[in-house]
Amino acid sequence: MAEVVIAESREVASALAAEAILHQIRSKPKFTLGVATGDTPVAMYRDLASLAEEFGIDLQNLNAFALDEYVGLEPTDPRSFSSALQENFVKVLGLDPAQLHVPQVAACNLSTSGRDFERSIAAAGGIDLQILGIGSNGHIGFNEPGSSLASRTRVTMLADTTRRDNAVFFAESEDVPQHSVSQGIGTILEARHLVLLAFGVKKESAIAAAIEGPVTSACPGSAIQLHPWVTVFLDRESANSLQEKDYYLGAWENKMESLSWRLSP
Ligand code: GLP
Repeated sequence: MAEVVIAESREVASALAAEAILHQIRSKPKFTLGVATGDTPVAMYRDLASLAEEFGIDLQNLNAFALDEYVGLEPTDPRSFSSALQENFVKVLGLDPAQLHVPQVAACNLSTSGRDFERSIAAAGGIDLQILGIGSNGHIGFNEPGSSLASRTRVTMLADTTRRDNAVFFAESEDVPQHSVSQGIGTILEARHLVLLAFGVKKESAIAAAIEGPVTSACPGSAIQLHPWVTVFLDRESANSLQEKDYYLGAWENKMESLSWRLSP
């Protein structure tokens, strides 16, 4: 079962997730981190930067791989995941832009992009820790409901619900791309450790389905149940529909200090 931490707020959950991630980074000098876009991890990336500075953890040897990228946007387009990660992750952590790898989405690369991306992940020694968000429809990366649980990095089609959810970043809802290149569910499951973050009432049913529902391609997030090492950070709202709360850690009432991944100087 996943280790599930339910914090009183998204701020507390983000800071705890940053500690869990840095605890791993500190233990391995050349660390490969899988990074997610969306609003959810943005505050956690800021916490990673400040805690790394506070605890003197060097991030200069970090290698980062994005989960996914829209097809049809230039990498320099501010709406692309490449730009978002340069802004919210690379700059915030003071990394070299070359430390971040994003799937190629130019038309001429599409047929080989997935295979090439998987090769670069393998050449980096595999992903040590993959950060994940979850879509309101249960997607992880851009693996929409119906995606094979064995899928690899490939071109995927975005669900209508996802295009509606992501329309806030585009002037017109029709501008939201129809396709992405996304790590597959099988690819994601090969990361050594998965760290999933979800906040707010909009994620409540996707989280209940992913953590406590059946493992099914109807909820791609439920694939985390197949992984031997998963840590989930939630706020109270996103955790609201979970039934087995007795098995989870309430960050506001438990003694969190003794957890193995808390940072100590
Ligand atoms: C996006 C991305 C996912 C992300 C999810 C949730 O479209 N493809 O990787 O985790 O949807 O986004 P948010 O964190 O903004 O809710």
